[in-house]
Amino acid sequence: MTHSNDPTDKKNYRPDTKLSVLGRDPFAHHGIVNPPIYRASTVLFPNVAALKDLDSKAPGKVYYGRYGTPTTFALEEAVAGIEGGYKSIIVGSGKAAVVCALLAFLKTGDHVLMVDSAYSPSRHFGVTTMARFSIELSFYDPLIAPDELKRLIKPNTRVLFLESPGSLTFEVQDVPALAKVAKNAGLTVMIDNTWASPLFFDPFVHGVDISIQAATKYIVGHSDAMLGTITTNEAAYPAVRRAFEELGYSAAPDDIYLALRGLRTLGVRLRRHQEIATELATWLKARPEVHRVLYPALPDDPGHALWKRDFKGASGLFGVMLKPVSSDAVAAMLDGLALFGLGYSWGGYESLIVPTEPHTLRADPSRWDPKYPMLRIHAGLEDPADLIADLDQGFTRMRNATK
Ligand SMILES: Cc1ncc(COP(=O)(O)O)c(C=O)c1O
Repeated sequence: MTHSNDPTDKKNYRPDTKLSVLGRDPFAHHGIVNPPIYRASTVLFPNVAALKDLDSKAPGKVYYGRYGTPTTFALEEAVAGIEGGYKSIIVGSGKAAVVCALLAFLKTGDHVLMVDSAYSPSRHFGVTTMARFSIELSFYDPLIAPDELKRLIKPNTRVLFLESPGSLTFEVQDVPALAKVAKNAGLTVMIDNTWASPLFFDPFVHGVDISIQAATKYIVGHSDAMLGTITTNEAAYPAVRRAFEELGYSAAPDDIYLALRGLRTLGVRLRRHQEIATELATWLKARPEVHRVLYPALPDDPGHALWKRDFKGASGLFGVMLKPVSSDAVAAMLDGLALFGLGYSWGGYESLIVPTEPHTLRADPSRWDPKYPMLRIHAGLEDPADLIADLDQGFTRMRNATK
């Protein structure tokens, strides 16, 4: 990408500058730095001609609350600009973004190829609701070679769904190679890009048509709002926009404001999450209780080479595979942690930990032997020395519980 020093050319700013300038226009709002929150259902028109004017109903125009207000359009502009897509659509959760993107391209009789390491509720939508509408679903190995993927494409395959690194197990996919195979076969390529955030992986440079963010995680960044974003290239936009409108999705303006506010600090937060996660992961790897750490930023991670080639950084979420130990001993470790909360989300400023069971969530569970208990850690923004001390005491409790 070329970078311009023309201060009026927002498109070509470097990512951190985009985080600061996109989606706000202070002098359209009395010089106030942040855009206001517009709360709206009803929008009034001055006369019948304006009410009936079709142009007033185009995306980006304010005509009914569900289709967005200037608050919504501000976040749309910012996310699309940072992720490098044509336009974004904002919905009420990351899961809603996955559902909307899939339904935009699928009908009865179609077939979807979804990575086996996709976020479990994304998989669940496929095996329940899509199945009810007779949409076929196959899960493919996240480490599949492009030629093997080609063999899985059927005449009715419409969508390739990627998520990299994978949920819970953190396999890095060869996105450009897989996207190329899919595009050659006429498929629509979508990725759940939440782990990298819009900042650390450029989906559109790597051949993807649609990028999904659970903005709930790093964009909001403070564990206080649910949102999803769907960013598309120009060709995919009309179908996704239609699905969004037909499904009746909308997102609350106050939550969108929180996302806009979170976005401003995404760069500094994410780089600090990476530093702290790397420190924790390196410390954990050297622990006698740990079998493996699953974090592509570590040089000996199997996904490291692809991560280094394609990503601009790593976020704060990673996996830990413990050596065989009882589930009671794992609970003894986790129950007494002072700084790591036990909770099913991530991306906020606070550290989190959960036990995971990927063997129960994979079409092919063979790589995930339940003998090795797994954890997922989100490195928050606390001092890493305090986090390490907390984990160290946890390991002591784990050892005492096995005596
Ligand atoms: C990778 C990934 N995608 C999507 C989602 C769904 O996001 P939300 O919880 O906002 O529906 C999550 C939530 O944990 C996630 O981890």
